[in-house]
Amino acid sequence: MKFHILTWGCQMNDHDTEKMSGLLLNAGFSPACGIDDADLVLLNTCSVREKAAHKVFSELGRLKEAKANRANSANSPMLIGVAGCLAQQEKEKIFKRAPYVDLVMGTTALKQLPKLVADALSGGGRVIDTNFYADNHLFPPEVIQRGPAAKALVTIIEGCNHACAYCVVPTTRGAERHRPAPEILAEIRGLAERGYREIELLGQNVNSYQGGCAFAELLYQVAEIDGLEWIRFTTSHPMNFTRDLAQALVNIPKIAPFLHMPIQSGSDKILRRMGRGYTSGDYIERVGYLGEWRADMCLSTDFIVGFPGETDDDFEATMSILEKIKFDASFSFIYSPRPDTPALKLTDDISDSVKHERLARLQARQTELTHMSHRREVGKIIQARIESQGPIEGQGGQEGQQSQQSYWLARTAKWRNVRLENPNNRPAPFGRLISAKITDAGPHWLKGEVV
Ligand code: SAH
Ligand code: SF4
Ligand code: F3S
Repeated sequence: MKFHILTWGCQMNDHDTEKMSGLLLNAGFSPACGIDDADLVLLNTCSVREKAAHKVFSELGRLKEAKANRANSANSPMLIGVAGCLAQQEKEKIFKRAPYVDLVMGTTALKQLPKLVADALSGGGRVIDTNFYADNHLFPPEVIQRGPAAKALVTIIEGCNHACAYCVVPTTRGAERHRPAPEILAEIRGLAERGYREIELLGQNVNSYQGGCAFAELLYQVAEIDGLEWIRFTTSHPMNFTRDLAQALVNIPKIAPFLHMPIQSGSDKILRRMGRGYTSGDYIERVGYLGEWRADMCLSTDFIVGFPGETDDDFEATMSILEKIKFDASFSFIYSPRPDTPALKLTDDISDSVKHERLARLQARQTELTHMSHRREVGKIIQARIESQGPIEGQGGQEGQQSQQSYWLARTAKWRNVRLENPNNRPAPFGRLISAKITDAGPHWLKGEVV
């Protein structure tokens, strides 16, 4: 039996896919090359915005056909499973919208996967488990099937104790469960011994960690593990961003100089309506905790525009905080009303055209700020990790030129893509940290040469 998993959403979902893959391999499945030769297709879904949910249903539409074709052929039938946040949110309703789905599994039921698949295969009809398993954060690390990357994802918290008015996550992932620090440290030691050089600590809200110590303390302990080169973590909530944590970031050289801390809006009225628990002033104060470190790091954020009640003045407050903080990067979204969220009670009172105009203005200014931030790297010698090799350029190019020039793609500590010249067409040393001189910068890339 072969399986194939399609994944949407955040790193938490990417990591859940690694966990599900491990469980299926242990149960005797092998990986398929794609949907066409898979006996089991699992969709690991996201429901954070309507678009994310929509993508899943379109994919299910395509799979319906693939499954019907399979049923008409001599090949074994195709089993379709839906896991992840949309499965947790919609539960049995998934079967109503897509009756050809065989299995629905909630976000905390991962460890039930082998049993659920066995039940579905035994032909007893549809299977579903969207029960809440409070111990799903205690997943056996040896089962996780990680990809070939140099960076390993490591869960420290599952769930979220905040209650932002627009957000499905507290419903789809439940309240916070913290992994005990000794387990996290043992897992990371094992990873370092196996050659992983970079780790990313994961949680909806990593900095509210309390698994026997505070998040800052956990970072100090992780940093002592031999072999690690960079430590990353995501996502940080401004309310849980303490002076101690800022100090840890400044003090620990292995911490990659990158912080993703969603602000959502620059308007205090909107932040209050969102239930974020801080004002724009509080956010600025917390960025201030970073002191000198701020000068040479990447501060990234998320924005929601068009939240119910957002006036022109509220949006201007968002534009002005962008100017004040000069975020190095941001992800921005139009507010999307989601099932079972408190914001549904608010009237979605802003026209689509206004929402789109605001998003376009915010994104255009962010592109300029990101470009400025990238230009500050030009001339510097920095470290970057080789991730992949670009295609040979120039083949069949203009006037038949055949330059045969390839390049390496690498990722900097600040999580930027850098394209490195490779004049001698050497094979890329995947996963290695190299030193590069940055020679040019655009809004979405850096260019450089290995030194
Ligand atoms: N745990 C993270 C965010 C998880 S969701 C945190 O609290 O920082 C990732 C981002 O999606 C959020 O930061 C927010 O900007 C966006 N988002 C979440 N729900 C949304 C919704 N209903 N509409 C639009 N954007 C949303
Ligand atoms: Fe959602 Fe807010 Fe929790 Fe982030 S902090 S996951 S936005 S409820
Ligand atoms: Fe999406 Fe669930 Fe992550 S809603 S963003 S996959 S926690």
